[in-house]
Amino acid sequence: MTAYSKQPGPIGVFDSGYGGLTILHGIRQLLPEYDYLYLGDNARAPYGSRSFDVVYQFTRQAVMKLFDLGCHLVILGCNTASAKALRTIQQNDLPKLDPDRRVLGVIRPTAEVIGKLTQSRHVGVLATEGTIKSHSYKLEIQKLWDDVTVTGIPCPLWVPIIENNEADTPGADYFVKKRIDLIMERDPLIDTLILGCTHYPILMPKIQKHVPKNVQIVAQGEYVAESLKDYFRRHPDMDARCTKHGSVKYFTTENPEKFKETARIFLHEQVDVEHVDLE
Ligand code: DGL
Repeated sequence: MTAYSKQPGPIGVFDSGYGGLTILHGIRQLLPEYDYLYLGDNARAPYGSRSFDVVYQFTRQAVMKLFDLGCHLVILGCNTASAKALRTIQQNDLPKLDPDRRVLGVIRPTAEVIGKLTQSRHVGVLATEGTIKSHSYKLEIQKLWDDVTVTGIPCPLWVPIIENNEADTPGADYFVKKRIDLIMERDPLIDTLILGCTHYPILMPKIQKHVPKNVQIVAQGEYVAESLKDYFRRHPDMDARCTKHGSVKYFTTENPEKFKETARIFLHEQVDVEHVDLE
């Protein structure tokens, strides 16, 4: 077993790139008193079309880095990592690394609320190829709400558009409209559309423009935050192991200057960023 620090530490939030910032934002809105470490594997993003094995290895490295940096609790603010790596990390790695540390994902909290939001009982999921192919949303939602029909569509170009800082350009409109038209064509009864990739809220103005008026768009940040708050209520021992000074530190596997520049657009604030290598 690895000898990680027993001292209380910040909450880790991980994503392949910038997408997890939408989750961190949601969590900080509800739980501002905690300390956070954000880690974006921007140098290796996107994860969306990578194999199970590779996403698992990369995610495992990121979790170990966040444990090294003092986190007792890590949120995978990434659907692709939650779909492809979370269960193996929870079942195989945590018992060996440190059975007292925890890793949580973003799919379950979203599945839990969805049955309360849809009236038509027809839900759409827009996500990466990896998340759609894993069928994680369908499985998680139908475990809890067996009367809900789930239709998933991959949007392989949306993450590269965001990671390359093109989310505000007219080119983005074309690709956003194309996938929304396709999912609404597949199931015109959809009244609730899950943005099942944490990058996608960054495209929100474009998504809202092209989604039919009667369809509600579900971004995950606020639901993940509520679920985390509830988790702390049920696990006061973990709550006690998370420090509370309201700080945030950012780490990237890319060039910190590049991260800073792009993150500023989403965060609307200047941030301190350090480079880390994952291995
Ligand atoms: N933001 C991630 C997700 O929620 C991953 C996107 C990617 O790297 O392809 O799926």
